[in-house]
Amino acid sequence: MATSAPVESVGAPPSIVQIKEAAKEQQIDPYNVSGAKDAQGNVKAIDYEALRQRFNTPALTEEHLRRFQEVTGKPPHRLVRRKLFFSHRDFDKILDYYEKYGFFLLYTGRGPSSGSLHLGHAIPFLFNKELQDVFDVPLVIMLTDDEKFLYTRNKNEGKQTTGGALGDFIGYAYDNCKDIIALGFDKKKTFIYTDYEYMGGHFYQNISEFETLLTNNQIRGALGFDGSTNVGLNAYAAKQCVAAFASSYPAIFGCGDFRAPDYVERRPRKELAAIPCLIPCAIDQEPYFRLLRDNCDRMELPSPKTSLILSKFLTALQGPGGKMSASDPNSAIFMNDTSKQIEKKINKHAFSGGGATREEHERDGGNPDIDVAYTYLSYFLEDDDELAEIEKSYRAGTLSTGELKKKCIAVLQAFVGTFQERRATVTDQIMREFMTVRKLEYKGHANPKVPGGIEAIARDLASNSTKSSKKDKKDAKKTESLPVRSSETGGDDLQKST
Ligand code: TRP
Repeated sequence: MATSAPVESVGAPPSIVQIKEAAKEQQIDPYNVSGAKDAQGNVKAIDYEALRQRFNTPALTEEHLRRFQEVTGKPPHRLVRRKLFFSHRDFDKILDYYEKYGFFLLYTGRGPSSGSLHLGHAIPFLFNKELQDVFDVPLVIMLTDDEKFLYTRNKNEGKQTTGGALGDFIGYAYDNCKDIIALGFDKKKTFIYTDYEYMGGHFYQNISEFETLLTNNQIRGALGFDGSTNVGLNAYAAKQCVAAFASSYPAIFGCGDFRAPDYVERRPRKELAAIPCLIPCAIDQEPYFRLLRDNCDRMELPSPKTSLILSKFLTALQGPGGKMSASDPNSAIFMNDTSKQIEKKINKHAFSGGGATREEHERDGGNPDIDVAYTYLSYFLEDDDELAEIEKSYRAGTLSTGELKKKCIAVLQAFVGTFQERRATVTDQIMREFMTVRKLEYKGHANPKVPGGIEAIARDLASNSTKSSKKDKKDAKKTESLPVRSSETGGDDLQKST
């Protein structure tokens, strides 16, 4: 294992230093994650409630958790119980679909900006793995080597930098792919691809069509771009969006594509387009998927509005105002850090909510809400009772910061250690197996209301088509209102979406 954080983390989100210099307001979009600054210039914790309201994404409620358990027969994952996943769009609808047809498409992704994942990257994947196990559905993982290349070039004003050549991103994608596999995904149900390898066929047809539905102004509004942003980055959004359409992956459902060498089916099947999709991801990706949801039903082969389940960010070691960043080794625990490095990083850098002195701590108690070691425990310690006990004694001041950090170090060392053992077994060949275009095997719901999988969807579409053809045209005009940042006015008002 490498002993230090990768130096090649060129396409990464901003570092803590950059975050400190950021605007006073909190700023969250796919390319910026930073808390607001107070009068002294200190970064404040990200206000997730304000963010949720700004994005207008509903809260994930106890009712959703109950319904999840009702539909799957399983308790929700600790990351949901502890509200790391805290918001959603149409999560209830995906559960309804699942009860009806017995399956859906799970989709997530990763922008390969560095050679090794850190704990913050691992979190959404852990959650995706859990959902794949519980629902027993196909999962596609998009590795956006193109996005990170374009983004890095854009950041560097078009100039090539060390570690920032196109081929470097292909390399990061492969390294990340192996890390992701080592988190435990089931090969039979998982297709992982890089954009440079897989884009073509029906996927590319979907991209072209989707590109016609997005204007530059909409892209700028959603992603904070302007007229000097390179055209590749502007166009990229369509790719990340249509990756949610099952029709972009006909082969995983056993259907033909329009690619070399066989060119079997010229256009996607309607019933594949109609398969619903759930995207578990961090909330910074939401602006992309708002563009997606606005346009799903404007495609020639319409798709249902994509469901989302949205997470907070894994707090940087320095505290809750930023997220772990691959470009700042001291902000993050990397999945290839040694046990010693983990110990050192937590002891030295993890922001503490404890009292300034031992006396103070024993008298006033600690504050777990802002304590980074406690926060990490809340993500990785499975036992609810043990966590509650830690919280209580920390607040009471009977558990010291040192003891709390020790516990956190042990839990993280165990998690990262197990991961590294598995990672060492992921060969190039295993990676290629996950990346092979093939039919996936999944069982889905044991007892769906409408059995028959894709054929059942096709039948329902055929019987509905006569009724709905007029309505389709009318609906095409309706959109989930977009965050419009007009290029003319330079305004950045974010309209509410639904
Ligand atoms: N843009 C994401 C990133 O930079 C990568 C990504 C592509 C993604 N598709 C996704 C993330 C779907 C979550 C869900 O990391």
